[in-house]
Amino acid sequence: MSTAPAYVVDDLVARDIDAYLDSHQHKTMLRFITCGSVDDGKSTLIGRLLYDSKMIFEDQLAALESDSRKQGTQGGEIDFALLVDGLAAEREQGITIDVAYRFFNTEKRKFIVADCPGHEQYTRNMVTGASTADLAVILIDARKGVLTQTRRHSYLCHLIGIRNIVLAVNKMDLVGYDQATFDTIVADYAAFAESIGIAGFTALPISGFKGDNITARSPNMPWYHGPTLVEHLETVEVLASVDADKPFRMPVQWVNRPHLDFRGFSGLIATGRVAVGDKVRVLPSGKTSAVTRIVTLDGDLPQAVAGQSVTLCFADEIDCSRGDVIAAAEQPPEAADQFEATLVWLDDAALRVGRGYWLKLGTQTGSATVQQPKYVVNVNTLEQLAAKTLDLNAIGVAELTTDRPIVFEPYADNRTLGGFILIDKLTNATVAAGMLHFSLRRAQNVHWQAVDVGREAHAALKEQKPAVLWFTGLSGSGKSTIANLVEKRLHALGRHTFLLDGDNVRHGLNKDLGFTEADRIENIRRVGEVAKLMTDAGLIVLTAFISPFRAEREMVRAMLPAGEFVEVFVDTPFAEAERRDVKGLYKKARAGLLKNFTGIDSPYERPEAPEVRIDTTVTTPEQAAEQIVDLLLRRA
Ligand code: ADX
Repeated sequence: MSTAPAYVVDDLVARDIDAYLDSHQHKTMLRFITCGSVDDGKSTLIGRLLYDSKMIFEDQLAALESDSRKQGTQGGEIDFALLVDGLAAEREQGITIDVAYRFFNTEKRKFIVADCPGHEQYTRNMVTGASTADLAVILIDARKGVLTQTRRHSYLCHLIGIRNIVLAVNKMDLVGYDQATFDTIVADYAAFAESIGIAGFTALPISGFKGDNITARSPNMPWYHGPTLVEHLETVEVLASVDADKPFRMPVQWVNRPHLDFRGFSGLIATGRVAVGDKVRVLPSGKTSAVTRIVTLDGDLPQAVAGQSVTLCFADEIDCSRGDVIAAAEQPPEAADQFEATLVWLDDAALRVGRGYWLKLGTQTGSATVQQPKYVVNVNTLEQLAAKTLDLNAIGVAELTTDRPIVFEPYADNRTLGGFILIDKLTNATVAAGMLHFSLRRAQNVHWQAVDVGREAHAALKEQKPAVLWFTGLSGSGKSTIANLVEKRLHALGRHTFLLDGDNVRHGLNKDLGFTEADRIENIRRVGEVAKLMTDAGLIVLTAFISPFRAEREMVRAMLPAGEFVEVFVDTPFAEAERRDVKGLYKKARAGLLKNFTGIDSPYERPEAPEVRIDTTVTTPEQAAEQIVDLLLRRA
């Protein structure tokens, strides 16, 4: 490789920084992703783009210059090979970073390229990188043709909704710039692309290493008449301009009320256009008004379009807050609380069917539970397989239910209103990325019925404050024994109580449930709902269930008014519970006759801050009961 030209600062920057910044600001931005393994020449291609556009980020530049100096090259000169090595090394070290984003620009456009690792175990990284991309460059080694990996990457890009696919057949120099080789690969890919619904793609023969058809037309392939890669990237239509032609939608980020005379709703326009005077509808409430002002940092505008951040003022004082969606009055999106969606699982901990996760869709947040997947997709063969859950990197289709109506559009029509993430409520980790397909209408005609005799009236008649005493602990820890004593004392004191006990409820209401994680989650969900209804009836409810998962105990706590949920941790160490073995179950489990036994092959998550903790190795059941009753009476 010949010595590279010195890094030159853009002339205009030196002459007139304002003019430079201005021209810069009005360039459109294209975000794209490169797919392919290191062997396909991904680093070389990205290096080539950065190098040829002379656009290397300052810190990369500094590092490379110092490397160049160490290697004895002229100060300020950057060697192309060195740049590529640097990028590859950075990515290898940076595996923990999900995606490396690199910036460069040409005269016509600004670019952000997402560079992510290609192997199957990094599916989540690819999905992250692809989620904001307008275009994907799928690299193929001309010597190898279409590989499993090519198919997987194409499938993921298509799934994420990338409509511009570039098939870059690389290393053409190593196949003698042979047109027949290129044509065969393109035909192969076309057949595959059609099978997964990719409507079209642009194929280019290139050499990242030699620079053929990257910025300049290659003299080595006179048979190719299409654009160079950079020409294509500079002229392809970006998502924002496609989105501008869709109906108007703007998720509200915040309500802007600096003083009483001004009330505006701020957000980023997801799709469409809005003009002063337009009739708009606020969802999910459905209230309508007209736009009176479009305010921006640079002053008022007569109209605005997808991609712009604006504050809208309305003619009427209608309710509108963060999480609502402002839409064209006559073409509003739907709101629903049950959906079918594709989920890409991003967390080490697998999906827990039935558990509540936070769902974030644009500026909307709710709690969502996911059903058992209908199927998962083998990303290498694209087969649909049955599955009970979703593990790290799995892609599956499942139904989910939210606790409130979510304003949405199918992901295929609108990435902003159709794309969402799921967040673990306890760890705050993003566990899944999802794409909504359509709503299910099951819940549509079920409305909450208001009743005249409410929970206060029920409690008042019983002259007591309702509560749930939630006993949790290992099997045989003493939950039922203590709960029984507590109920007897409360009953003797004239309180209206009811005891829900695991072993009993599992004979009736929950007799369809076993001891898998999903079944235990459903067990506790139902018990929580029943306990809540009983507090509505004014009762003091006692529940005795292992309830091994923190998330479900917290879910029940959140269902009740503050202070009504009293968590009682019956803390018997595992060894002690096993020694007592009141029901002989530990022995059975040890003998392999009982599967999924808590503490043996099924987890128990200790409460972190229970209202009451009973150490049964030093407290008798009677003492424990007295302590709990005292606490309850003090609270009331
Ligand atoms: S929970 O985990 O879903 O809360 P729950 O309290 O309803 O469990 O039921 C636990 C009771 O079921 C135990 O006290 C025990 O009598 C019985 N049992 C039967 N099989 C198991 C098992 N595999 N793990 C735990 N308990 C079991």
